Amino acid sequence: MSNRPIVLIGAGGIVESAHLPAYQKAGLKVIGITDLDQQKAQDIAKKFNVSNVYDSVHQATIHAPEDTIFDIAIPASELIDLLPTFQNGATLLIQKPMGENIKQARQIEQICRQKGFTANVNFQLRFAPQVTEARQMINQGKIGELHDIEMRVTVYTPWHLWDFLEKCDRVEILYHSIHYIDLIRSFWGNPIGILAKTTKHPEMMNMASSRSNIIMDYGDIKRANITTNHGHKYGLKHQESYLKFEGTKGAIKICFGLLMNYPKGTIDSFEYHILSNKKETEWISKEICGTWFPDAFIGSILNLMEPKEQMDCTVTDAYETMACVEAAYQSNQSSLIPVNS
Ligand SMILES: NC(=O)c1ccc[n+]([C@@H]2O[C@H](COP(=O)([O-])OP(=O)(O)OC[C@H]3O[C@@H](n4cnc5c(N)ncnc54)[C@H](O)[C@@H]3O)[C@@H](O)[C@H]2O)c1
Repeated sequence: MSNRPIVLIGAGGIVESAHLPAYQKAGLKVIGITDLDQQKAQDIAKKFNVSNVYDSVHQATIHAPEDTIFDIAIPASELIDLLPTFQNGATLLIQKPMGENIKQARQIEQICRQKGFTANVNFQLRFAPQVTEARQMINQGKIGELHDIEMRVTVYTPWHLWDFLEKCDRVEILYHSIHYIDLIRSFWGNPIGILAKTTKHPEMMNMASSRSNIIMDYGDIKRANITTNHGHKYGLKHQESYLKFEGTKGAIKICFGLLMNYPKGTIDSFEYHILSNKKETEWISKEICGTWFPDAFIGSILNLMEPKEQMDCTVTDAYETMACVEAAYQSNQSSLIPVNS
């Protein structure tokens, strides 16, 4: 493994809870960190034994070795101002979303192209250990022809903890369902089109919509469906957070415990059911080592370090995910077929 040095730009919640634990677990070399809030950078550096705290991103670009990967985890709204700071030809991993809308995504892609960056976007759910296992089974033909992908989330997410979200015109699809849109694209590529409805919650009226129904249209035989409700505050009993694949010979169901019983979470599960003509079949549980947070973050950075293993996570590919998000919001605005009684 190449184990290139990593410098973190941003020392916020996601860096502390996922990036750094992931890199520690994988034995990767984090050589430096910087944040507009120097105290935060100092504190995190101390906690995770990061030896260099740079005064600014500019300082980081001057002092970091040439083969450094700059791992950016700052609000999407700041990306366009930040990116020109890096030297031409730099290698970047950029946290999702890729800007706050399609216009910004286009600008980000252009800056990366003009400056000759090798730049990926960190849509890490593609690399969650359970998803990797499912992908292998699907590629090996174990569940036959894949024709149905469903993501369903019924949880209580205390969005008010992220006060910046109140100022955002777009919340649920842009910040959350985007993971599922990207994940489905990683299996089936771009859909023909998107149909979506995203709805506010009566107790979260100071924020944009937090419940979404998204259909990614892959034609008459394949179905891809995302349903999210982040306002289910009635205890754990009926909370759900699952990804299900159905094929002509079997099915796989993954439960992501991370989102449920917030902030404690619950355990993940991975089950599959392979049909047989000869015997009764049933669901089988499989123990999978690792979970979305932090393990999937290892996959994102290794994908950038090890070109042989590469899945296309470039800004060019991520732009397509942003285009799906844009289509979902446009669909939400467009007129429906009226019901004539
Ligand atoms: N699963 C995921 O992929 C996932 C989960 C959570 C957050 N995120 C994304 O990660 C990003 C950061 O989220 P967070 O929860 O850590 O936010 P946060 O508010 O906790 O931290 C962001 C940090 O960035 C710093 N910052 C802002 N602009 C900067 C700049 N120009 N230079 C250096 N530092 C700067 C801020 O001072 C702050 O410390 C967001 O884009 C968010 O959408 C992704």
